[in-house]
Amino acid sequence: MKKIESVVKSNSNRRAFLKTGIAAAGAATVGAAALTSSKPAFAEERSGRLDPGDAAILRFLAAAEILETDLWQQYNELAGVQDSEVPGGSGNSAYTAALSSLDDDMPQYIHDNTQDEMTHEVFINAFLASRGADTVNLDHFRVLPSSQATGAAQVGRLTNLMQLAVDTSWYTRYRDGNKNPDFGDTFPQAIPTLAVGQHPAIPRWDADTSDADHLQAIANTAAFHFATIEQGGTSLYAQLAQRVTGAEVLRIVLSIGGTEIMHFQTWHDIAGDAPPVTDGALVFPDLNSPPFGGPEFQTNLIMPEPTIFLNRNFPKCSIIRPTETKGAAMGAVKFLAASNLFLGQSKSFFAHLTDLAEDADEARRGF
Ligand SMILES: [Fe+2]
Ligand SMILES: [Fe+2]
Repeated sequence: MKKIESVVKSNSNRRAFLKTGIAAAGAATVGAAALTSSKPAFAEERSGRLDPGDAAILRFLAAAEILETDLWQQYNELAGVQDSEVPGGSGNSAYTAALSSLDDDMPQYIHDNTQDEMTHEVFINAFLASRGADTVNLDHFRVLPSSQATGAAQVGRLTNLMQLAVDTSWYTRYRDGNKNPDFGDTFPQAIPTLAVGQHPAIPRWDADTSDADHLQAIANTAAFHFATIEQGGTSLYAQLAQRVTGAEVLRIVLSIGGTEIMHFQTWHDIAGDAPPVTDGALVFPDLNSPPFGGPEFQTNLIMPEPTIFLNRNFPKCSIIRPTETKGAAMGAVKFLAASNLFLGQSKSFFAHLTDLAEDADEARRGF
């Protein structure tokens, strides 16, 4: 722990020094800079041959993908197909069975979503490096504990899946034909009791698998969390794409972003198959029966309901939402933090993530 702290500290000292240095250099050349570029001075990271804004966007996305990989690996170790494509863990049969009650293909889908995130992370960093730009590595923040349940690898984690508050408002957001979050609209939770408090999405120890209702509630929590994560990726890539400058970087952002949409659509469908169950204060209702059901809750309404877009005077349109680009990276960080996904992480972890997000949000489309 001491070693980790000192590494982080020396890193942040370096960053502070470099930021000060850049600010001083910027002050001396402010006249010339104002004439040649309207672009903001970016942080200390090297952009190489990339547009600085593009490099900052890719670095934030690399960080997001590293975090996604970390959480998906925890799911895969317990409930995914166990093979060499996604190493680590050995499976938990009780948890796998509870998830499979939503869909027989769960282990395969969990495995494949995990593998996809791994490739996103590795590809973006490899592309950054190929253009001489700094890459992202969060290894020194792998300090959170693993599940003690059978099947989990015992390694340090970046994310915490054991105390989640899962926002399920995407469920009603995508069913509403008159509202759009980019117009400031808000949406009710599909599972209100899951959005508050702290709920495990994986068994924390084997005792979590002995009561059938408790275990099903954990599996249902995971199923909604899968969609919550992937709808976030769905919006994030579309939001950041609007501020990309280079055509090749835009191609990367659109191509990876599209797979986030495919993930979300799959998980949206499956979440609707979560069996009704009550576990203490946590209630998964039958979303097809009163007081639920209807256009807001009916579980097979998984295609995006056409809604208002850009301007209320335009015809309604079937779209992903939100896609407002301003502050999108910081918005994603705050959304994930509010879900307790980073509960137990250090101040320097949040500082580093905030730094990457702020740099990405300073990016401006340069043509
Ligand atoms: Fe991803
Ligand atoms: Fe994803």
